[in-house]
Amino acid sequence: MTTPKKILATRIFPEAGIQLLKDEGFSVTVWDKNRLMTQQELVENAENHNALFCTLTDKIDKEFLEQCNHLEIISQFGVGFDNIDIDEATRLEIPVGNTPDVLSEATADIAFGLMIATSRKMFYLHKSIERGEWKYFTPNAHLGIELKNKTLGIFGLGRIGLEMGRRCKGAYNMNIIYHNRTRNLLAEEELGARFVSFDELLAQSDVLSAHCALTDETKGIFNKEAFELMKPTSIFINTARGAVHNEADLIDALQSQRIWGTGLDVTNPEPMHPDNPLLSMENVSVLPHIGSGNEETRAKMSLLAAQNIIGFYKHNRVPHLVNPRAI
Ligand code: DGY
Repeated sequence: MTTPKKILATRIFPEAGIQLLKDEGFSVTVWDKNRLMTQQELVENAENHNALFCTLTDKIDKEFLEQCNHLEIISQFGVGFDNIDIDEATRLEIPVGNTPDVLSEATADIAFGLMIATSRKMFYLHKSIERGEWKYFTPNAHLGIELKNKTLGIFGLGRIGLEMGRRCKGAYNMNIIYHNRTRNLLAEEELGARFVSFDELLAQSDVLSAHCALTDETKGIFNKEAFELMKPTSIFINTARGAVHNEADLIDALQSQRIWGTGLDVTNPEPMHPDNPLLSMENVSVLPHIGSGNEETRAKMSLLAAQNIIGFYKHNRVPHLVNPRAI
């Protein structure tokens, strides 16, 4: 490269990928302020760069893409890319890369952890100690739900769902059912997972864990009607995207005991407001979207996001390309 390509990193990302880009001769600008860019700042900053190294908090919508149609590649730090208008990027022939696989285990750990924490009311009981409510051992109070031999329903059995299934099968011998657009034969063989209709998934799951992408079809799919079909003893886990569930309907389902509990790593909207009634419910555990958040995983995501850019410029190939029709 004669003139180095200019990459805009929209946040402070783990250094591994940023350093790799610099080592490969790219010029990297990092938005290092302790706040998100406004949409206007995003456009202004992108204007004099060739490529974006961005993440789910960046709104890469039609309007942005029309204004920044000079971008040569968009590399998303994350497996989900619902913040990006992929159709528009494709129309403008801008390839979009993402970072699949490397975060599957970390994200499944959080789904699995939320399932256990919720089934035993851990987050609520931790807070009850802070409130000075632990007086003595009480044989009949705050009882949770056993997970052994229960049915795990996976909505969206891909790479992360498979890891969740492995954990639940290994630890609790859970019976696994799932609903997908297409059957996952590997999971059927390895976990004995059974493909069921969406209504069956709702009706039979003791724990229902969402691992789908956010699309027009999955947006708000866990709503009043869905919660009404679930068991009153069931737990709903969401580590996918907050917009997959309708939060008002979820609150209502818990308050009216249509379902037993919920564990969320993603909320609708994000960030969750500190006054949200979910935060004071006994059978609820909420985390601030940290599914992929361990040191090793985030470093690997950063490297993959960098490799997508390097591959595009140096080898004419984006290793994890979301929109092949753009090229
Ligand atoms: C993703 O990758 O889409 C997660 O939500 C962030 O790690």
